[in-house]
Amino acid sequence: MEIERARKRIAQLSEQLNQHNYQYYVLAQPLISDYEYDMMMEELIKLEKQFPELILSSSPSQRVGGEITKNFQSFPHRYPMLSLGNSYSRAEIADFINRIKKSIGNKVEFVCELKYDGVAVSLHYKNGLLKQALTRGDGTKGDDITTNVKTIRSIPLQLTGNYLEDFEIRGEIYYPRKSFEKLNASRAEEGQALFANPRNAAAGTIKLQDSAEVARRNLDCWLYYLVAENDDLPFETHYESLQKAKKWGFRISNDIALCVNENEIFEFINNWEKARHKLPFDIDGIVVKVNSFAQQRQLGFTAKSPRWAIAYKYKAEEAKTRLLGVDFQVGRTGAVTPVANLKPVLLAGTTVKRATLHNADFIAQLDLHENDLVTIEKGGEIIPKITAVDLSERDANSKTISFLTHCPECGTKLTRQEGEAAWYCPNSDGCPPQIKGKIEHFISRKAMNIESLGEGKIALLFDQGLIKNAADLYSLKYDDLFGLEKIIETADENNPGNIITRKVSFKEKTSENILKSLDESRNVPFHRVLFALGIRFVGETVAKKLADAFLSIDGIKNASFEQLIAVDEIGEKIAASVQQYFSDPNHLILIQKLKDAGLQFEQENKISADGPLKGKSFVISGVFSVSRETIKKLIESNGGKNISSLSNKTDYLVAGDNMGPAKKQKAEKLGIPIISEEDLHKLLE
Ligand code: IVH
Repeated sequence: MEIERARKRIAQLSEQLNQHNYQYYVLAQPLISDYEYDMMMEELIKLEKQFPELILSSSPSQRVGGEITKNFQSFPHRYPMLSLGNSYSRAEIADFINRIKKSIGNKVEFVCELKYDGVAVSLHYKNGLLKQALTRGDGTKGDDITTNVKTIRSIPLQLTGNYLEDFEIRGEIYYPRKSFEKLNASRAEEGQALFANPRNAAAGTIKLQDSAEVARRNLDCWLYYLVAENDDLPFETHYESLQKAKKWGFRISNDIALCVNENEIFEFINNWEKARHKLPFDIDGIVVKVNSFAQQRQLGFTAKSPRWAIAYKYKAEEAKTRLLGVDFQVGRTGAVTPVANLKPVLLAGTTVKRATLHNADFIAQLDLHENDLVTIEKGGEIIPKITAVDLSERDANSKTISFLTHCPECGTKLTRQEGEAAWYCPNSDGCPPQIKGKIEHFISRKAMNIESLGEGKIALLFDQGLIKNAADLYSLKYDDLFGLEKIIETADENNPGNIITRKVSFKEKTSENILKSLDESRNVPFHRVLFALGIRFVGETVAKKLADAFLSIDGIKNASFEQLIAVDEIGEKIAASVQQYFSDPNHLILIQKLKDAGLQFEQENKISADGPLKGKSFVISGVFSVSRETIKKLIESNGGKNISSLSNKTDYLVAGDNMGPAKKQKAEKLGIPIISEEDLHKLLE
């Protein structure tokens, strides 16, 4: 395609994708299917690969991330980011209202909003484009998190309608509760440290160096405060400014109330005190603001906070109950998670019977004993946590709760790796929950995407002896499936630790769907098959990187440790895990069976297709006139390969500004030509 046609198509795709993004993530009213959206995004990314010079700062492709931020640079805030005065009692709110009325008279209107519990962000927009996103920092200067913020789907990269030319809008980036639970569950399985609550998870995520990882993490954002030069603001009130901002594409809550007196404000506070537990995200209070901008100016600021706003904070809800016992659950990777069984108690509107105990260290920190009287709290998490033990109520001869030494499912001795919090059952191919978990992962949407099959049906097939591993799925016949049914017990997704019973049955249509879907999965590309194998630390992205670098399962199996770590983003931990996987003969048998079943174990197209850089490998280092990601894309789209470290197999070192002296020395020692960004362009000619 010639460049002018590409420019037009890129503009058209960007506009459509931005619009669909808004429909889906802001309005929650999608107009097209995920598939159609993915196809458009794929086309856009392909065109941008071909013409990297046409990549716009507002391109929807930025949503998938890819750029790495080594250091988050600090920038001054144009308007200081202040905090709010806090209050914990109705009396303090009444004082606030009286103070205001005394100062500016009785005719005053208030806006009540939810106080989102996340990380404050300030977004600067100029001519409708997101220019910069800063954290609060110390209030006068904050860190530039623009690249990561661009991956948050509900934050518009390009505004629509009659927007202001130059302004900032502030809001709160947060981690939705469900996504937070999933994140922690998978971290627990992988033995990584857990986030204490969604706020910490949001704060940790927004400062990740790899924006592609941020993109995968489902952060979201509410916006609540528009700031610009007074003379530039064409609105009289805060409420009006938010309604206008909503029209430009921002995600602004509908849970806002205009109140004219104390009673109306208290009603808002009281309603949300109960209703907050049903929200899919955390709030820690409500915010009361004076609505009129003129009155806000009259009231002004103290050194720390505006006089025209105050926060009312809710207290964390707590309850005391007895510990009845501890269960140990074994997950897909063999990680053993302790769960406390509690005497049922009412907390924040629900009856709580279980609480997570995370890992052995957590139990030791609490010094938990049998039958202890414990305080449970519903903070950020859906599953309550034990925050304290009442020692005065402890039975004199009660025993300490100790962690298991052997797997509760298969009896194998548990192991723990140095530096990891979780204990594991190492019997990965013989321990029932691990086998079932692996098969569940294998059939999941992002892996082999087998329809009509889920946790319950996998459990039933396993219990019937019909499947012992993923390869057995491909030997299933209609007669094996049709008519099978059983009442089974599974974990309650909304209340981990709780068990629910349900009936699982294979009817005619289901059985047909499963077999059809299994058949179709023979076309699933290699990188997803690799992901489906469930090799520890090999997630979607790593699987893609490995597939691109080695092109087949045998290529990966035969790669040396050095070759593995030479691949971009593959570190020692992943390389060791990959080698360990292939050293197990059972895994080689499984792969052979899957090969025999007709699955793809080779990359279809080599990404390094024809081009002037075909067969050449590059290391890039330093700062360039465009982003490093753009340089990498340029190399790849012309047939070259990017590698992360210099070796005697490297053909060129592309040096930008500020390249470290060590790299230069190493390249010189190995006799690798050092070329500039300009030289690279010459190679393309
Ligand atoms: S207004 C000048 N509105 O709470 C004050 N803040 O404890 C501008 N927050 O710094 C802030 N929800 O990070 C405002 N609806 C809301 C809010 C909100 C959460 C955060 C924000 C602020 C902190 C103060």
